[in-house]
Amino acid sequence: MINLITTKDLKEGTSRGIEIDNNFLFAIKKDDLYHVYWNICPHIGTPLEWQEDQFLDDDGELIRCATHGALFEINSGKCLAGPCIGKKLHKIPFEISNDMITVKESDLKPPSRF
Ligand code: FES
Repeated sequence: MINLITTKDLKEGTSRGIEIDNNFLFAIKKDDLYHVYWNICPHIGTPLEWQEDQFLDDDGELIRCATHGALFEINSGKCLAGPCIGKKLHKIPFEISNDMITVKESDLKPPSRF
């Protein structure tokens, strides 16, 4: 398993960018649930954050892409508004053990399509 981030480093209502061996991901904690996605917008494949570790909109209710402003549901990654409407961010399966969010090495393969 590969360690991504400790749960202590991901406060409620915040997001964090994560880089592991040139793989770019981000994690969110919202309503006591954790979510991990590839940092790849399904529109044209750019990173989503508008500033370091800032992946959410002003209200912290949706994920927002900085490039063209697409908005995504936090739970599902589904694009609700913007040029990639109907597409989804790619989730990564993870586990939490001893306060550490981890992923399987075999799951760290970037999606071939976005
Ligand atoms: S690249 Fe994300 S909305 Fe265009």
